[in-house]
Amino acid sequence: MEASLQYARAQDQADELKSYREQFYFPALSPAPADSPGVNTQSSDGNAQSGHAKYQIYLCGNSLGLQPKGTETCVKRFLDAWKQLAIGGYFKGEAPWMTYAQRFKEPLAQLVGARPLEITVMNTLTVNLHLLLCTFYKPKGERYKMLIEAGAFPSDQYAAQTQVRFHGYDPGDALIQIGPRSGEKVIRPEDILEAIAQHGSSLALVLIGGVNYYSGQLFDLKAITQAAHEVGAIAGFDLAHAVGNIPLCLHDEDIDFAVWCSYKYLNGGPGASGAVYIHERFSSDPSLLRFGGWGGSLAQTRFDMPEQFTPEPGADGWNLSVAQALVLAGLEASLELFQSAGIEKVRAKSIRLTGYLEFLLNQIPGKPFELITPAEPEKRGAQLSLYFPEGGKKLQAALQEAGIVVDYREPGVIRVSPAPLYNNFEDVYKFYEIITQVSPNRQGE
Ligand SMILES: Cc1ncc(COP(=O)(O)O)c(C=O)c1O
Repeated sequence: MEASLQYARAQDQADELKSYREQFYFPALSPAPADSPGVNTQSSDGNAQSGHAKYQIYLCGNSLGLQPKGTETCVKRFLDAWKQLAIGGYFKGEAPWMTYAQRFKEPLAQLVGARPLEITVMNTLTVNLHLLLCTFYKPKGERYKMLIEAGAFPSDQYAAQTQVRFHGYDPGDALIQIGPRSGEKVIRPEDILEAIAQHGSSLALVLIGGVNYYSGQLFDLKAITQAAHEVGAIAGFDLAHAVGNIPLCLHDEDIDFAVWCSYKYLNGGPGASGAVYIHERFSSDPSLLRFGGWGGSLAQTRFDMPEQFTPEPGADGWNLSVAQALVLAGLEASLELFQSAGIEKVRAKSIRLTGYLEFLLNQIPGKPFELITPAEPEKRGAQLSLYFPEGGKKLQAALQEAGIVVDYREPGVIRVSPAPLYNNFEDVYKFYEIITQVSPNRQGE
């Protein structure tokens, strides 16, 4: 690898996914600083509103994915159907709302390695996590504990705390939290497995983020699931940072359940509909307890308005309400892009792109940060987390001024995520150029 624009451009030329970049809108610089170093001037981004407009270098797909150009058509199709057909839109038109959610099952199943029956789109991540914990967290007798990562995304921590409280337990006792060892920044995978074995018969459920939102660490879902099953516990995952980022094999790895949101690597837009996976051995069992609503009732008899709740087979039987057609429309165009590119190819590019980012960051002399994300590609996704003992937040603001979008998470971490569908090697190189120029060591020279 070489730290040069020429090298980066040569990689882009050879990239078989390069045309996907044209399918997204990049946020414009506002106002465009006249001579910002390295700003994105490629009118080939297809941002047709101005051939001279300058665009931000967007490396924040781990937080909010960019808008695919096809999204407008899907949303407009919904608006037109509502305008022209009103209530008729439920059953008529190009994408009748009554069955619209069904078309998301196959593309999502492909992305996460599941069967379509095991997938349903609904609600948002935290709502879905609670709904699935209602089914899967069944503390009884001495088996009542839940194991989570220390430093899991706060929403997961709050869900876990309030669920154990809801069942009458004290989180201080019922929640087992596994964090990095003292002086370390990521969790040793063997520590999770050992803790599962150690708590054995007292463990009801293991809940882990597939890719940790802060460190970017990717966990071994299969090994965690096996360990949980060996002691008789359920294994569930929050895949917010994993879906659309790495290929998953949820069914074959025997994972019990998973939840995710669609606004990060899936580019579904803020508040996009979340989705869940429930392994077939559970989802095809209508007797399994869940919270019911008419959206999850047997489709065949739904309009007979039966008094008793009979769930629809599969994960659909966990739905509560009528499908949210408008927010689903935001997800459709992006899933088409994933289907045509293929998640394996997306991942292959991602490994190279993030590897290049890591290589460049390691070239910065006296760099004021520590790269805390594991160096092995099989232990991370697209994201690299740069830990700044001090000055991280200020640096992120300086990067923003210079037209770079990355995000900052307390304590001290700037997260940088090249998303392979729309980022390229040139973006990564320009980020390196700018961070080298604005980093505190350099400013102090
Ligand atoms: C890992 C993780 N879990 C959960 C959430 C919360 O998702 P939602 O707000 O859609 O419930 C987020 C949001 O960024 C997240 O990153």
